[in-house]
Parts: sequence; structure tokens; C-alpha cells
Amino acid sequence: MSDLPAILDEFRKRTPKSAGLHASAADLIQGGVASPFRYYEPYPFFVERGKGGRIWDVDGNEYIDFNNCYGAIIAGHAHPEINRAIKEQAEKGSMFGIPGRITEKLLRELLRRYSSMRFFRFANSGAEATMYALRLARAYTGKDKIIKIEGCYHGCHDAVLISDKPHRPAHMGPAWAPTPVIESAGILPDTAKNTLVVPWNDTDALKSCLDRNLGEVACLIVEPIVANFGMCLPDKGYLEKVREITRHYNVVLIFDEVKVGIRLAPGGGTEVTGVRPDIICLSKAFGGGLPLAAFGATEDFWDMFYPLGEVIHFGTYNANPISMAASLACLTKVMTREAYKHTDRMGEKLRKGIEDSIRRHGIRAVPAGIGPMLTVFFMEKKPRNYRETLVNDKDQWLKWYMSMINKGLFFTAPSAYEETFISAGNTEKDIDEALERIDSAFKELPKKT
Ligand SMILES: Cc1ncc(COP(=O)(O)O)c(C=O)c1O
Repeated sequence: MSDLPAILDEFRKRTPKSAGLHASAADLIQGGVASPFRYYEPYPFFVERGKGGRIWDVDGNEYIDFNNCYGAIIAGHAHPEINRAIKEQAEKGSMFGIPGRITEKLLRELLRRYSSMRFFRFANSGAEATMYALRLARAYTGKDKIIKIEGCYHGCHDAVLISDKPHRPAHMGPAWAPTPVIESAGILPDTAKNTLVVPWNDTDALKSCLDRNLGEVACLIVEPIVANFGMCLPDKGYLEKVREITRHYNVVLIFDEVKVGIRLAPGGGTEVTGVRPDIICLSKAFGGGLPLAAFGATEDFWDMFYPLGEVIHFGTYNANPISMAASLACLTKVMTREAYKHTDRMGEKLRKGIEDSIRRHGIRAVPAGIGPMLTVFFMEKKPRNYRETLVNDKDQWLKWYMSMINKGLFFTAPSAYEETFISAGNTEKDIDEALERIDSAFKELPKKT
């Protein structure tokens, strides 16, 4: 079945209860979803429960889950160790707004994993972590401007909701010096004056941006391995050069490890790339399935925070004990060296199987990624930056994606720019079955022309 209307008809037939629930939700909340990323045509399926690497929808359909809540689930759904930790803490009380023992344990575990950091502070979402990281960099340098990478998402706050996924070429400016594009109504035009944008994998463009804004730039925020216009690895030597340049220009280097942190290795993107930033942001996998984030920095930033310094970081829910308990159980009991080997192996097997399948069926597509994360681009070659992804054939992707949902595989979040996040709960059997479903979805697609 290679035409989209037929694929969507099949989806409707499989999910009548989801259709009903979505219709009533859509009258209560815009689009019927709590975060617009969750919406897709004709409506999203509604989930009932999850266990390990699988989820079930309200119509009783079973899916292999490789989306794993946009990467927030790394242990697998309803992991018994994490559930036990949550229940034990809930019995003692869910929140106090008073320091407790568990915070220290989790901080020590984080510092063990990210040994180049002097401290971490807790927040509740990736957006909060990046917001505080930028504030810290600005306070430390006394400068106003920040630089981000074109196509990258760092949370839903004003300073970074710029050139997240610009799509109108007329607004984007030249590739070597992109025009900052505001991505939401309600963001002040002046915000774009302080958020500069550069392409990924281009150190000349970065240097040129710094020269044009000499003495005005506080920081550069990057994902050490891009996971926001699909997976896009740094060219050899790129991050090392970025580190050198940021030092030379006295610009703070922030690694936004919200997606890759904790996941790619115990010490995340920093461990995998070997490059040491000044500030690191974590969330998603770090929370063990509960809302939790952290941002950390090197010794130089230690005395910047109130009560030692003047940077403010408040929050009623900071270091909430239930999230701390889930995170600690996840980091110390589930994500062992063995678990990392398992997720890496599963990722490798999936990428290899997809490559074989693409070749077998003569489809113009290419898998890209690292460890347990991967994106399938419907284009000839892996992209090196955001603009190269603009030729990705999103119509092909959509047919393939929806047909996999019909076959019981939730491969990624519903966007061609997302990636799979294999969890420790995904088994060899999940990968084998997923590869059969992926292969059958490729088989139904129109071939290369
Ligand atoms: C790299 C990156 N940073 C920050 C965020 C924002 O995280 P949150 O959705 O928890 O606010 C995301 C979300 O996907 C992300 O991918």
C-alpha cells in the first residue's frame, strides 16, 4: 500500500477509540494534544499503558516503542526498579521544599559521570536548564548576545526559539550567516538581535560571526551531537576547533545534552566526543522517566550563584524527591555499563538492518545516527547541516512512518526531524520484529526515480 489516503484509512480502522477520544479532547485543548509536537494527521493514537519496550493504545493495538517519550524513557516503560524507588519515596512524602539526603546522592552520581563539571543544579525541564545556562553565561561574561546553531531546538523559551526549523528560504539569509528567524508569535523582535545563528559543521562561519560581533557574545550553545534536525554528527575535528575558537574569543561553550546526555554513554556527549564544555544541560534520560533536568558548570562558575553570587535560580519544584528517586534508581541500578552496551548493540543492529532493507528495495534513503539514536533521511546522502535536510523527501517519510504505525511500530515522534531512542527495555526481539515491519514498509514505497 503506497498511497497515503489508503494508509490513513487503515490507521482510522485500527484506532476508532483514539478517534473518539481525540475528537472530545480537541474541544478542550487546542489540537487535542498537550504539546503540539504530539499531533499528526488524522489524529494521534491515544496510549493506555507501556511495559519494557512496548506500548498499547486504547484500542488494544500493541506497538514496539522506539520513541520512548522523545527520549525521556531510557530504562523502558514501568521499570520495576524505578517504580519501586518512586513508590518508596511517595510513601515518605512527595515534596517538601526542604533539602533531603537524596539530592546529595544524585549530585555525586552526576559528578562521577561528568567529571569535568564542578557542580550541577536541578531544574524540571530541558527548557529551564538551557534558560539558566544562558543566564549564567551572560552573567559570567557580562555580554548580551548568544549564538545557536541553525535548525537546533533548545526548549520553548524566547531566547532560543529562533531559527529552530526555519523553512522559508526567503527569510533564512545566506548559508554562512543565517538570518535569525523568530519561530513563535509573541516573541519580541528585539530578541532576535541578541540571538545569532550559525550553521553546524562550519567553523569559518562561527569565526566570522564572532568577528562581526566582537566583544558582544556571551556564549555558544550547541548539541555536541545534533539530534534536532535528525541525527547529524560533528565532522572530524569540528568540536575541537569550536572549543579552540570559543576559548580564543572568550565565549562560554554550552553543551546542550538534553537528548544525548546520560544516553550515549554514562558521561553522554562529553564522554563520547572527548570535548569539554564550560556548561552542560541535561534532562530527558536523566530523569529516569520523571520530569527532571540539571545544568552544571566548571569551577570558574562556582561562586556565581546566589547565595554566593548574584545569579538567581529559584524553583518550587527544584530537586523534587520523587524525580530524584526515579533518576537515582535509573542511573545507579538500570543504566549500568552492560545496559549501555546493550542499547549500543541494538542501535547498531537497527541501523545495519535498515541499510540492508533500503538497498534491497532500491529506496532513496539513508540512516544516520550513533549508539541508540537514529534518523532515516529520505535523501541520497547524510546531511552535514540543517539546510542540507531541506531536500529530505517528507512525503515518502510520512507514508513510511504511518505505514509502520499501522504495523505496530512507533519508530520516532511524528516528525521527519526526530530520531529513534532505543531504551534498555527494548529487546533483541523488538529489534528483529521492528526490522521486519520496517522492511515491509520500505517494500510498499515507490522506488528511486
Ligand atoms: C536539545 C534539546 N534541548 C532542550 C530541549 C527542551 O526540553 P524540554 O522539552 O524538557 O523543555 C529539547 C527538547 O526536545 C532538546 O531536544
